[in-house]
Amino acid sequence: MPENQKNIFKEKLQFAVDNQELVKLILSKKRNKSSDLKKITVKISKIKEDTKLTFNYTYNTNDKTKNFNLEEGINEIEILLEKEFFNADLFTTKETIQLFTNKKNNSKIKVLEPTFTEVNFNHDKVKKQRISLKDNLYLQELGIITKDFKIKKDMHDKYRQINKYLEIIESLLANLKNKEELKIADMGSGKGYLTFALYDFLKNSLNLQAQISGIEFREDLVNKSNVLANKIGFSNLNFKKGTIEQTEIGEIDVLIALHACDTATDEAIFKGIKANASLIVVAPCCQKQIRRQFNVSNEMASIVKHGILKERQAVIITDGLRALILEVFGYKTKVFEFISDEHTPKNIMIAGTKHNGKVNKQEIFEKLKAIKSLFGIEYHYLEKLMKI
Ligand SMILES: C[S@@+](CC[C@H](N)C(=O)[O-])C[C@H]1O[C@@H](n2cnc3c(N)ncnc32)[C@H](O)[C@@H]1O
Repeated sequence: MPENQKNIFKEKLQFAVDNQELVKLILSKKRNKSSDLKKITVKISKIKEDTKLTFNYTYNTNDKTKNFNLEEGINEIEILLEKEFFNADLFTTKETIQLFTNKKNNSKIKVLEPTFTEVNFNHDKVKKQRISLKDNLYLQELGIITKDFKIKKDMHDKYRQINKYLEIIESLLANLKNKEELKIADMGSGKGYLTFALYDFLKNSLNLQAQISGIEFREDLVNKSNVLANKIGFSNLNFKKGTIEQTEIGEIDVLIALHACDTATDEAIFKGIKANASLIVVAPCCQKQIRRQFNVSNEMASIVKHGILKERQAVIITDGLRALILEVFGYKTKVFEFISDEHTPKNIMIAGTKHNGKVNKQEIFEKLKAIKSLFGIEYHYLEKLMKI
């Protein structure tokens, strides 16, 4: 039985490599404690016309890289798992598989939701840019690039965030069936740089028909954004003054809410579910509603007595429950990192893609109930909105 588990792991590895779904594999927990080799990370790379497995060896003091043909690479991983390492984490675009092996060579695997949405084959090369800087008037007007279309010194992080956002949206849209004319609502669009960039990317890079409405309660931002959209001829991009709660969005395909504070994210998800959106993408922030309700009297109390841990736990619970509630309403969910901590602490993204499969609502309700009871939570605001 335990050996079987290792075989299942190997089969999953082979499948991920054959289908180019391997994002990365990490071999860890060295068998020989005195070995200098700490871990190995393996990724798929496109080198000229060939597909290779690139091994990055991390030693105590330095790193080394070696490329293998696919078959050789898989053999090498199998040998390393027998001789050098106990554990492995396999990240594919479909799932995350963890392999644990003990000293008696008994293995077990754990299959988790995927952490990554796409494979980056050219990880050592310059990343693909999804919007052009050349003659880009909206990035110029929004203060991200200079008059001669260069990224401003202090705007590299913002530009990286825009590209990361477009990369995520591109991979999420790949799963949508009907993309003839996408109707998109961006709730709490702010200054609009992500909204403009998305429109530009969909129209000019992906050649998709798209109508995007940014909803924003600050009138000055709405007016500015509409003037800019008109000036640069983004004819199907418009901005409306209004609150997320009260704006009628009609029929939409995609609902987006990035950094809408606290329960504004729940209002946005609620609108998306009600509009039967095929895709809902939110990057929540300021998760206060659940934190205020924490009333922990079990073992977890000794952890959440520390303010910072309580805050982080509240973020996890708030967003975890959001994902579960989306599942109740027929969405397949993914929760993943939007942009790393060094750029912004608001780094979690939840994506829900509508499916037509069966949902065992009762089972999810029980999970919701158990989690709430663990933290003494009376209700999640999204449950209230959805009347569940
Ligand atoms: C932090 S900014 C994020 C802007 C943009 N989505 C981004 O990620 O760059 C949040 C914006 O949402 C707007 N906002 C927050 N709550 C809102 C609500 N309930 N209805 C409409 N707009 C809201 C704020 O005015 C602000 O411009």
